[in-house]
Amino acid sequence: MDSLKRLFQEMSEKAAFVFSNRRIVPSEGSMNSRVALIGEAPGGEEEKAGRPFVGKAGANLTAFLQSAGLSRDNLYITNVVKIRPSRLSDKTGAPVNRPPNKAELSFFTPYLLKELEAVAPEYVVTLGNCALRAVTGQPLNIGQTRGTLISVAGRNVFPLYHPAAIIYNRELTDVYEKDMKTLKTLLSNA
Ligand code: URA
Repeated sequence: MDSLKRLFQEMSEKAAFVFSNRRIVPSEGSMNSRVALIGEAPGGEEEKAGRPFVGKAGANLTAFLQSAGLSRDNLYITNVVKIRPSRLSDKTGAPVNRPPNKAELSFFTPYLLKELEAVAPEYVVTLGNCALRAVTGQPLNIGQTRGTLISVAGRNVFPLYHPAAIIYNRELTDVYEKDMKTLKTLLSNA
């Protein structure tokens, strides 16, 4: 069994115990990808499909990738937290998404770092603050680092806004497109 499979198996077994059998949403894409995209955590759609970034944020992500001539098929896509962080809505009583909490982050971050060692991508593209901080271990801010290549512990990290940010702030569309193009140029020159 390869190291990534073993890692996910161990993570699933332990997470089932710690988080009472919440469904793990595994990563997607090839171990040979030059680029790993890291999101925050799966939402309801992702939990249902068992795949990362298939909901609204995923549609945004896919569109921005396409606009820069990049395809999801050539990327490794994963999340910091592999279960859906949720709470019950006061209004409907149904589960709704929430940001990951400390327990979830401290359980899953070491697995993410091991995952990155196994995949060893040339570029780690973090989507939003959560992934940026998990990958770098530093309290960096997406607004200040987005669209620039930073080197942390021997890793090339390229921070982007989280694609869900566009849903709430349309003005970020231009910034996002520009940053995707910068990424595309980086990849073509490497
Ligand atoms: N947001 C994320 O961060 N990850 C997903 O997989 C979906 C939405």
